[in-house]
Amino acid sequence: MIEIIKEHIKEVENFSAESKENSESFRIKYLGKKGILNELFKKFKDIDANERKIIGKEINILKSKVKKKVLEFQSEKKEEENKANEDLYKPGFPIEFGSEHPLNIVRKNIIGIFEKIGYCISEGPEIEDDWHNFTALNLPKHHPARDMQDTFFIKRDPDILLRTHTSSVQIRYMEKNSPPIKTISPGRVYRNEDISARSHCLFHQVEGLYIDRDVSFANLKHTIEYFCKSMFGKSQIRLRPSYFPFTEPSAEVDIYWGLKSETDYRITKGTGWLEIMGCGMVDPNVLNNCNIDSEKYSGFAFGMGIERIAMLMYQISDIRYFFQNDLRFLKQFSKIN
Ligand code: DAH
Repeated sequence: MIEIIKEHIKEVENFSAESKENSESFRIKYLGKKGILNELFKKFKDIDANERKIIGKEINILKSKVKKKVLEFQSEKKEEENKANEDLYKPGFPIEFGSEHPLNIVRKNIIGIFEKIGYCISEGPEIEDDWHNFTALNLPKHHPARDMQDTFFIKRDPDILLRTHTSSVQIRYMEKNSPPIKTISPGRVYRNEDISARSHCLFHQVEGLYIDRDVSFANLKHTIEYFCKSMFGKSQIRLRPSYFPFTEPSAEVDIYWGLKSETDYRITKGTGWLEIMGCGMVDPNVLNNCNIDSEKYSGFAFGMGIERIAMLMYQISDIRYFFQNDLRFLKQFSKIN
């Protein structure tokens, strides 16, 4: 008898159902009223007591294998039925569209404003060498103004660093092109600063550069007025004397924001004025460092933080919102632009 059972076990193991009928007749053959298993259990009663243990165990193995096979067929069948019932004309799940990041919106706006008056876009590497980030910009080694920009160094001597400003792109552009030059350079910059509501280790700047014959401070002022009018709809500005090693004279630009609302009072600290960028006439040393004849050519440069402009545009109180990827924040910009 044990041989017969083993034979059945083999058969069950090798069985695979080709069709529904096939699997149903398999089930009846083994589990039906007059099926093999019932027959075996009937015979089991007449078996010697000492053989019962071994044979009983084999019958149970056979039974569980049969049941497993039958279950397998049933679940395969269900899956097929489900597929057949799937309605291919059903509308899809609602798809949520992403929105542009506010920094991207502002960056594009700034670029668009300058492209309209003939500026081209230039970019440079975020990992910079000392020459392009400092020395060529009139910031020789040990110059105290280097402390203004807390630098992340990647390697020392020779120094390789994360650029602290996009002014480095000015140098790269002037090295490769000759005047007239009219370019803006948007990009990421890095500073090892304390985190506060107004500062972040990574932020974005746009640098502007215009070099030609007879470029004057009046041209600079006019360009900034044009920018402020286009960007904010306000063109009242004032230029405060300042210091940057790469420009002489240098100035900081304030825009008259007004004092109409409570927020205006808060963000302008009650003065109505807001600082928006740094600028100046390119220092002749910088031109000479890039092989541009400073006797023949002059020019201006300016630099602004994109976060700062975006915070003003949208009245955002903390720079960290830009980097948290919080959908509640980001979704507010989906209708803008
Ligand atoms: N590089 C300056 C900064 O990161 C910004 C700046 C100021 C750029 C004056 C300029 C400029 O081109 O003329 O703070």
